[in-house]
Formats: sequence, structure tokens, C-alpha cells
Amino acid sequence: MIPKISNLEEYKSVYNKSIKDPAGFWAEIADCFQWKKKGNQINSGNFNDVNHSWFEDSTLNITENCLDRHLDKRGEKTAIIWESNDPKEEGKHISYRELHAMVSQFANVLINKGVQKGDRVCIYMPMVPELAVAVLACARIGAIHSVVFGGFSARALADRIDDAECRVLLTADSTYRGKKEIRLKDISDDAMNLTDKIDNCITLKRTGNDINMKQGRDSWWHDEIDGVSTFNEALELNGEDPLFILYTSGSTGKPKGILHTTAGYMVYTAYSFKNVFQYEENDIYWCTADIGWITGHSYIVYGPLLCGATTLMFEGVPTFPDAGRFWDVVEKYKVNIFYTAPTAIRALQACDLGFVSSKDLSSLRVLGTVGEPINEEAWHWYNDHIGKKQCPIVDTWWQTETGGILISPLAGITPLKPSYATLPLPGVEPILVNNEGEIIEGNGVEGNLCIKNSWPSQTRTLYGDHERFIQTYFSTYPGYYFTGDGCKRDEDGYYRITGRVDDVINVSGHRIGTAEVENAIAEHEGVCETAVIGYPHDIKGQGIYAYVVCYEEVKNADELRKEILAKVIELIGPIAKPDKIQFVSGLPKTRSGKIMRRILRKLAEGEFDKLGDVSTLLDPSVVEKIKSGVI
Ligand code: WTA
Repeated sequence: MIPKISNLEEYKSVYNKSIKDPAGFWAEIADCFQWKKKGNQINSGNFNDVNHSWFEDSTLNITENCLDRHLDKRGEKTAIIWESNDPKEEGKHISYRELHAMVSQFANVLINKGVQKGDRVCIYMPMVPELAVAVLACARIGAIHSVVFGGFSARALADRIDDAECRVLLTADSTYRGKKEIRLKDISDDAMNLTDKIDNCITLKRTGNDINMKQGRDSWWHDEIDGVSTFNEALELNGEDPLFILYTSGSTGKPKGILHTTAGYMVYTAYSFKNVFQYEENDIYWCTADIGWITGHSYIVYGPLLCGATTLMFEGVPTFPDAGRFWDVVEKYKVNIFYTAPTAIRALQACDLGFVSSKDLSSLRVLGTVGEPINEEAWHWYNDHIGKKQCPIVDTWWQTETGGILISPLAGITPLKPSYATLPLPGVEPILVNNEGEIIEGNGVEGNLCIKNSWPSQTRTLYGDHERFIQTYFSTYPGYYFTGDGCKRDEDGYYRITGRVDDVINVSGHRIGTAEVENAIAEHEGVCETAVIGYPHDIKGQGIYAYVVCYEEVKNADELRKEILAKVIELIGPIAKPDKIQFVSGLPKTRSGKIMRRILRKLAEGEFDKLGDVSTLLDPSVVEKIKSGVI
């Protein structure tokens, strides 16, 4: 049994022990898992050489820990509850035994397709149980899964397939999210026209709409599993064998393939799941994220299943058929632990309170948030109306790169402060560093958030580009992992994340690189130059603001805006659509040609009196023109 901290004193002593003796601490946690071969090496490497590793002389299979290990005691227990987008469609309850059979069977399908250990498999699927099956089937045979969120375009999908050199694509005919139909197979077809890497595309029938099938390449999921054995011996893998790649945005244009490995990720996601949410054996746990993001990987699939929990998967959106949907689902399944994003809370907060007050939410015990800073107003609404002031809110700070939650209250144990992620988890050493790279000691301070030492679920590299990995995370402040976030540490030593300090923006909890959006806009033939920044947005947290300089006079601004939006949708996907596009005659630049984003941010916020000194600009008059809206 993975140990669970039960009070604040214990947290403090466990934390101190974990920092003094990380290897000893994690060795004990690792004993709670099933290994094929247990080695002696707990961790090695450091952040100067960027060669950290965990459990590298042990062997295991993570799916044995997610599935096989539970069969004796929890075989008939529900592993996955599935709730459709359509409230009238019956949900599903899949037991651990059933899930084990489905995963084993699909693992055999992949083997039949020639997929071997280390091969990359791209997964572009809706939130249905087969998505979890696909992920786990890859892990069972040592294939590396690369899940791409269904909101990405064909081009973005093709780029990710190319980068990871995936030979197999798993998708579905289509899905509904609210009223919107997303034709995943059609998009996959377009993607496969842009890359020649895919030899096999397997499509799950979800909605039954017509799709194209290319002979020799495409097949149906149900045909593939037909008659295939549900027995599969999980492959013995090394602790450091890659488990998955997940693409995320950074400050430069090209998305980064974050690579996670097996054993460290397993140990950390399970431990953090159990402790942060204070999970209890019969809890019904619901995380509303999509498995296309890290939150879904770690805290819908791996963390909960490793702990033998019942995890709820929801295909739909919070506002369909109305703004009471989340609370209907909580009531229907008597959810005990509910984990969502601040943007969803803000969207629901803006709706009639009747959507909440008519629902029975008494099953709830713990609430969580993730993905962006939660503003105090949203925190209080969540606490008052959803938790009825009875449920601790765990504000969990972490990243795709960190694999698991690093800074967060432990539910019911850590005293809360609205908008604070509070204290680090055992094994995690946050430090604040000033712009000169010096550690800022003491409390009541603010700086760039770094982590001093490796923790088990840390990303090991960027797929195929270790040099870029070192450059991105370990060169700004040598010897430390730099998160890209700004952070305060208050008088009590509590951490409060203030937001990104790099050119990444956080739109509805989705990470978007400004450079990516700029590259997409610049693909429009009429666009000469563009700068994209984030600005405060009531619901989304941040909105996307694009300043665009065109070659020629803009005659029909509305039309041009539409074309630019279409370009962004084509190249990245609807999630990266700018909320505002302003055509300008020039951008504020320094004499060396660097765009002054700080000024653009202030202009977007309408804070014209806080622009600072603009006299050093190459052409100060552009600022006046942007202010007055003159092109
Ligand atoms: C932000 C999501 C404040 C942060 C798990 C981080 C947060 C980025 C929080 C990672 C939080 C995440 N409070 N900010 N509780 N959680 N963030 O990779 O800027 O999609 O660097 O991982 O989200 O986003 P990612």
C-alpha cells in the first residue's frame, strides 16, 4: 500500500526526510509496486550533466501495476466509469478485469500490426474508454504512445506524427463535444496526406458517420479485435524505458516532444495521486481534463489506475446540454473527488446559480484545480457553491514536463490560502532565483521558479533533441530545472504561482506558444509581420491578442481577420485562435530590432499610462498609432 500522509506534522517530517535522503525515501515508496526485477539503483545523474535517471536497473511493466496487480482484490471493481457527451446515452462501467482483457487484447492487435518495443504510436481519439485502452496497450508492449488532443488540426497532427516518426495512428470516426461534431477520421485523412509515415490507421466506430477507408492502410477497431486473444503477457521493460511522448508548447515555434520514462513516472504519479487527493479505497474520482493533455495522462489514467481507483471519463463539455452538466454527473455517480480547471469554474460561475443549487453535491469531499493560477473570486465561488465550505480545494501546480503535481496542498491536511499552491510535495525542492541566477533565500520574496534536484517523474529529454532540452530548461539557471513560471513565497513559506515569465501563454488552461501562433499568422500571404501576446481575459484567464502588419493597405479588415483565423485553425487548431486581431502599421522595436512585447502587453490591456520609456524605440510614433488604432 502506498503510504498516505495523515497530518501536517507527518507531512513536515516526511518532507524533511525526503529531501535529506531522496533515494531512501523513494526506495520505500517503490516497494509498494510490482517489479519484474528489483534493482539497487534508485537515482543517479544530476542537473549539470542533465542525465538524471530513476530505477535504471529495475524492470517492470506499468500496466501490470495498473491492472494485473488489482485482479485478485479488485477484479470486479469499476476501473473506468464513462459518461457520454449525450446525457441520454447510457454510460459504461468497466471493471478492472474487463479493462485488463481489453488492454491485453488490443496489445495483441498492435503486436499483429508489427508494433515493437520502442516504436511510436500516435493516438488521436475522443474521450472514450478505448482511448485509455489504447494508451495502456502501448505501454503493455513497450511502444511509446503519443496522444494528440482532438482540438489540433490535421497539420498539427501531421507535424507530431512526423516528429515522433509514428507508423501507427489510432483514431475514431468522429466525436461530439457539446453540439460540435469533430470528424477525427477526416482530419486524420488530411494529416496522412501531409505525412507518409503512417502504415496502419485503426479507427474506432464511435458515432457511425461515413468515413473513407484506404485499403491496405485503414481498418476498423472492431474488425481488428475480432477473435484476438485477451491474454497478453506484459513485456518486461527497464525502469528508464520511454513510456510516452506528449507535445507541448514552448517559447519557440516548434512544439516540444516531452519524453517520460516508465518507473519514475509510475512511482510519482501514484504517490502524488494518493496523497494530494487523500484518496480512499471506494472513492469515485473525476478529473475533467482530456487525456490529450498531461493532466489526463497522469490523473485520469495512470495515477488513479495505479492506486486501484475508479476514474470517471467524460466525453463532453461543462456547458452541454446546459451549465449544470458537471453537477449532474457529480450527482449521478456520487463523485467524491472532483478535479477541474479554473477556466471551467469561471465559465460556470458566470451562469445562473440555479444550475448548481438544484443539484445534490453532498458526495463531494475534495476539490482540485489545475492548469493556471486560480483567481480568488473563482476560488471562493468553488469553495462556497460547490464544496459548500466543506471540501478542501487542492490548487495543484505542475507541468507537462514535471509528469506529476509538485506543489499543492494535501487535501484536508495543509491549511489553505486562496490562490496559493501552498507547499511542495515530498521529494520536491522548489527554489526562487533572481534574473542573475542567484537563489533568493528567505520568505516574503518573489522570483523565477526553479527546482533544485530531480524527482522521479521528471521529463528526461525532448524526443530526438537532447540539446534543445538542455537549452530550454537547464541553461537559463545552470544546475537547476527552470519551470518558466514566476512565483512568490510568502511569509509562511507558501508558494503562489504568478504566471509564465516566458513567451508562453495560458489560454483556458492550454499552453500556447506565442511564436507558434505568430508563425501560423505569418503564413498568410498578405501578412508582413506579426506579434502575439497574452492579455487578461475574464473566463479564459488569458486571451490571445495579435498585432498584424500587412504588406498592403487593409481594405476589408473583417475579411482579412477571417482569413487569418482560418490560417491559425488550419495550422494549429481552434484552440490557438486569436481573440483579437489589430492591424497596425508597425511594431514597437528596439534599435536592435527586438519587438518590445512588454509595451504591446500594456497597449492590449489599455494601460496607456504604464508604457514606460518609449523614446529608445526605433520609431516611437508606432506606439501612438497603435493607441489611436491608426494603421
Ligand atoms: C500553469 C498542466 C498556477 C503554469 C498541468 C505551468 C499553473 C503551466 C497551475 C503548465 C496552478 C499549471 N497554478 N499555474 N495550479 N498549474 N499552471 O504543461 O504556468 O499544460 O507552467 O501542465 O500551467 O501547463 P501544462
